[in-house]
Amino acid sequence: DPEHGFVARLLHWFDDHGRHDLPWQHPRSPYRVWLSEIMLQQTQVATVIPYFHRFLQHFPTLPDLAAASNDAVMAQWAGLGYYARARNLHAAAKRCVVEHGGDLPRDFDALHDLPGIGRSTAGAILSQAWNDPFAILDGNVKRVLSRYHGVEGFPGLPATEKQLWAIAEAQVAQVPAGRMADYTQAQMDLGATVCSRSRPACVICPLQADCVARREGRTAELPTAKPS
Ligand code: ADE
Ligand code: SF4
Repeated sequence: DPEHGFVARLLHWFDDHGRHDLPWQHPRSPYRVWLSEIMLQQTQVATVIPYFHRFLQHFPTLPDLAAASNDAVMAQWAGLGYYARARNLHAAAKRCVVEHGGDLPRDFDALHDLPGIGRSTAGAILSQAWNDPFAILDGNVKRVLSRYHGVEGFPGLPATEKQLWAIAEAQVAQVPAGRMADYTQAQMDLGATVCSRSRPACVICPLQADCVARREGRTAELPTAKPS
């Protein structure tokens, strides 16, 4: 029943309890969404926010970033860590100027081909910037889907990951038009707050009625730990 399935319940929860005040949501643009997603790959939201604002003050548009010197880009990234992200961001901006008229491409394959943009980041960008129906599968989403659907196997294994992508894409097909950005953010928000790694708050979770891990008392065993 789509009215009471994963997608509908998650979106309803997001309307009341999700994050609606993140700086890259207002205004939402492909460049701002991209920058935020790269910064958020290995860094917490609270840490990212001041860097995000400062970076945009120095490089207000994608062509501004492409035209900047490497030193200027690295100076604005300093302190965020994982510096390959900044090098890839700068290289991708230059390619967007040469190959895509100074904008991020809206085409999945062209976006995925840019340095620093994997499958999940490409989906996060297209869904949030354009409301296009692409799935994400980061660590938080892997945890929520493994628990809700009772998927066995360490999510870092290719076979498990393939299964989780298939589930994520089947769910995306249920998302109403115009709500993909919210759906993507909702998954991240639920995974970051309610369905946390060590203490999932199942009693307040919008997905509790149909969650396999909760029903079977196995939230501590799902997702399956990395084989040692
Ligand atoms: N991690 C990656 N993308 C995110 C987002 N949009 N909000 C919160 N955490 C994230
Ligand atoms: Fe996670 Fe519990 Fe919600 Fe299941 S019911 S998705 S384990 S918080």
